Amino acid sequence: MLKSSELLELINTHIAELAFARKPQGLYAPVSYVLSLGGKRIRPVLMLMAYNLYKNDVNSILNQATGIEVYHNYTLLHDDLMDKADRRRGKATVHKVWNENTAILSGDAMLVLAYQFMADGCPSASLKKVLDLFSLTALEICEGQQYDMDFEARLDVTEAEYIEMIRLKTSVLLAASLKIGAWLGGASEEDASGLYDFGMNLGVAFQLKDDWLDVYGNPDVFGKNIGGDILCNKKTYLLIQALEHAGEEQSRKLRRWLDAAEYEPAEKIASVKELYDEIGVGRMCLQKIEEYTALAAKSLEKVSVPSEAKAELKDLMNRLMNREV
Ligand code: IPE
Ligand code: IPE
Ligand code: MG
Ligand code: MG
Ligand code: MG
Repeated sequence: MLKSSELLELINTHIAELAFARKPQGLYAPVSYVLSLGGKRIRPVLMLMAYNLYKNDVNSILNQATGIEVYHNYTLLHDDLMDKADRRRGKATVHKVWNENTAILSGDAMLVLAYQFMADGCPSASLKKVLDLFSLTALEICEGQQYDMDFEARLDVTEAEYIEMIRLKTSVLLAASLKIGAWLGGASEEDASGLYDFGMNLGVAFQLKDDWLDVYGNPDVFGKNIGGDILCNKKTYLLIQALEHAGEEQSRKLRRWLDAAEYEPAEKIASVKELYDEIGVGRMCLQKIEEYTALAAKSLEKVSVPSEAKAELKDLMNRLMNREV
């Protein structure tokens, strides 16, 4: 069993050595750019870890692990356009370095590249089910992203709707990474499903933490602009709870900011954050994270490999929940 840090190094080296030999450079330079900025690489690492529960030759699925990361990076190019985000991984986003059309088209190319990597060297006995799950997951992510956009304009989004939205936009990709790794490793269908459930619960906790960091993160470490969700009126767990628990005066102030057409961004962020602090939604969010982390741990328990083998996954889960980035 390799440590997650060793698997991270393996995938990082593999991605660093990728060369996109095709032209035009204007299409591929942004692909190399975003992939060179790193990130946590948790999806490929999860895939490799799931595989490594059953088999040792992790190198044999590096193409599939690369496919999942290239796919994830494609979603980021389009997500940053949709979220009007200027910064990612501590650097300017693709649509800022180049332009919006570049983010769309290089993103499209990355989606196709992701499929090529996923299929390349995938054992033919697993190819159809791997691609079927990958396609379903990709479709669910589009659905989640559409809900995310739809919810910006609504004030009555419920907690249940929010959880379903983040399951779709975020959790399914973590879950599918684990399940594909398990399948390729030859896991039983029960174990593959157990790992998928682990990824779903982990993903909810992961996105809750991302929402929390968007408000309370350290701007020097987080790598994205703080308060981006507040500026978009994103219906994060924090905002949904704030709308639900605000007193009369707090509710009036909050709605005024949500309705404001013109404002100073820094002022809106500071004012909404102040309301969040008064209402105590940061704490509620951290509690919800713990709840889903516990659910994830429970799902992992059901996977029938020795607990020593699962310790590394549990450790990664805990590190993700305590992360600053
Ligand atoms: C960002 O994903 C998008 C979310 C689902 C929150 P990550 O937080 O995994 O981003 P990187 O790849 O580490 O930069
Ligand atoms: C990301 O959600 C979900 C996908 C990219 C599919 P966010 O919009 O919260 O991710 P960040 O915060 O931009 O990384
Ligand atoms: Mg975003
Ligand atoms: Mg988004
Ligand atoms: Mg976010």
